[in-house]
Amino acid sequence: MSQSKTGEEEDFQSSGIQLTTWKRLAQFSRAYPRTLWTLAFFAVTTGATETAFPLVTKYLIDAITLWQKDTTAPAPEFGGYILAYAGLTLGLSFSVWGFIRAAGFLKAACASDIRREGFAKLQSLEFAYYDKRATGWLMSRLTSDCERLSNIMAWGLLDVTWAFTFLIGAAGIMLALNWKLALWVLTVTPLLLFVSRFFQKRLLTASRKIRKINSTITADFNESIMGVTTTKVFTRQEANQEEFDGKANQMFEASVRNAVLSSMYLPIILTLGSLAAAIALIKGGIEVSIGVISLGTLVAFLSYTRQLFEPLQQLAHIFSELQMAQASGERIVELLETEPAIFDSEEVLARKRQQAERPTPNMADDGLPTGVGDIHFEKVNFHYGATKGKEPKMVLNDIDMTIKKGETIALVGATGGGKTTFISLLCRFYEPTAGRILIDGVPMKDRSLSWLQSEFGIVLQDPHLFSGTVMENIRYGRLEATDEQVLEAAHLVGATPFINKLKNAFLFEVGEGGSRLSAGERQLVSFARALLKDPSVLVMDEATSHIDTETEHHIQKGLTHILKDRTCFVIAHRLSTIENADRILVVHEGRIVEEGTHASLMKLGARYSSLHAHQSLTASNETW
Ligand SMILES: Nc1ncnc2c1ncn2[C@@H]1O[C@H](COP(=O)(O)OP(=O)(O)OP(=O)(O)O)[C@@H](O)[C@H]1O
Ligand SMILES: [Mg+2]
Repeated sequence: MSQSKTGEEEDFQSSGIQLTTWKRLAQFSRAYPRTLWTLAFFAVTTGATETAFPLVTKYLIDAITLWQKDTTAPAPEFGGYILAYAGLTLGLSFSVWGFIRAAGFLKAACASDIRREGFAKLQSLEFAYYDKRATGWLMSRLTSDCERLSNIMAWGLLDVTWAFTFLIGAAGIMLALNWKLALWVLTVTPLLLFVSRFFQKRLLTASRKIRKINSTITADFNESIMGVTTTKVFTRQEANQEEFDGKANQMFEASVRNAVLSSMYLPIILTLGSLAAAIALIKGGIEVSIGVISLGTLVAFLSYTRQLFEPLQQLAHIFSELQMAQASGERIVELLETEPAIFDSEEVLARKRQQAERPTPNMADDGLPTGVGDIHFEKVNFHYGATKGKEPKMVLNDIDMTIKKGETIALVGATGGGKTTFISLLCRFYEPTAGRILIDGVPMKDRSLSWLQSEFGIVLQDPHLFSGTVMENIRYGRLEATDEQVLEAAHLVGATPFINKLKNAFLFEVGEGGSRLSAGERQLVSFARALLKDPSVLVMDEATSHIDTETEHHIQKGLTHILKDRTCFVIAHRLSTIENADRILVVHEGRIVEEGTHASLMKLGARYSSLHAHQSLTASNETW
């Protein structure tokens, strides 16, 4: 699997069927042994009843012919035949009911289990995994791939069992009735199978291609709707239209090719089926006339040959489906088998179990003290995952420092310097590539992830809100918080005035991703959310970048109260907001190049002071 973000083009990669993939996937259906047996049972009974019908017809015809020849003989027992037909019909209906039910259940159960396991996996995987995978890619794993696989797992199994039962039953009966004639008729079978495979494979490839073009067309629609402002601003309408016309044409041509192919398939299959019937009719007819076989046997042969191509077609179809679904299967298995790179070690898990069974009071869930005191970065280096053929670029170099409990640390510096990366390591979203981070002398790796997450409150530059009300979004920080506590958190960050202006105030629906709020309002809500959690360490990455200076001033006033007894990390481009920080770190190209208070750094007269001078100048220009 390549390191770059991968997309749907992989659909065409795998052609061979690999048993390991399907064995892993079969675990999902094997979780329902009763359903599997029920499904197999009904598939067999369906096939068996279907093969029995022509046999009953044969005996009936033979009995009638015999009676016609010799009228003195007793009349055939019509009642018995009617009963046999009725019995078979009932049996068939019952079997069909049974298999539809079982297959439907199995499909739904497998789909839901794959989704559940995939979702759980996605939740446990670290950020680095998401860096390598596009959102759309991950979404289609849990939607279309999952749908395709669960379908094959349930209906494929049914079709294969049914087809084999019917083929074996029909071939067996024909061989038993007259093996020579049977061999004649069965010579067509391989040909039928071959032709079916040939067409099915091409038909499926063609339809996948159509789906692929279709998905790019959908993406185009999506992009053009989302980017309508940009398109208009750059007067790109005509160029966009041309591009789109090209794709629409491709779609049209591929669809026509597909239609031509499928128009040829059925007639050819029907002709071959008729060929088998013709062989049976000619060979069998001659044998009937010379009295080698009975008329009933001939009719049964005709009936079997006419039905023979259906299971063959099914088998060919399933085989192509399996081949096409191989890529889906591999992708799902890859997702399910990925082990998270950041996880609780065995030792941490053992401590967690012990704490859950025999809790030591006032300790965290991993049995160690709660609360975050001093944080120590010990010779920390970091780079993001390497891209193919390129040496990874170091993003953080030799970070070696201690942050005292309750300190407010500001990180400033040019874009891309490594500030966000610094706090990502601090929150253990990523692991240092060298060195380590200790909390109160304990390596971060030896603490539980759940404890760590409970101690850190994070406000990001572009925070994500969930669909729901403002109240629900703030409460996300601490689910058991009372309404009063939610209101207080909102008040502390100065969000109350804007919330009260919304329709329904705290019960305002923020829309998908918070899209019905402005960027600054989203930041305020996420600020309140982080605060409600009452974290030991508060991390703010450009948390006030979208907020106007007046509101920011209000937050600043509240901040003294908020920051009391908390360690705090603030990243800000607007330097005026961090002048009061206990320590300012100037991060440049992955290194901390200056460190000190505002006053000391200004006195130093290096990078910080020049950044500051620059901003003051811009700010005074803006007031013009
Ligand atoms: N997920 C990622 N995968 C690969 N490289 C990344 C990733 N995130 C950041 N980088 C790179 O790491 C470097 C540091 O990025 P970082 O986000 O830490 O900068 P920053 O100081 O926060 O910048 P800004 O002020 O613009 O927010 C940049 O060169 C960036 O391109
Ligand atoms: Mg950043």
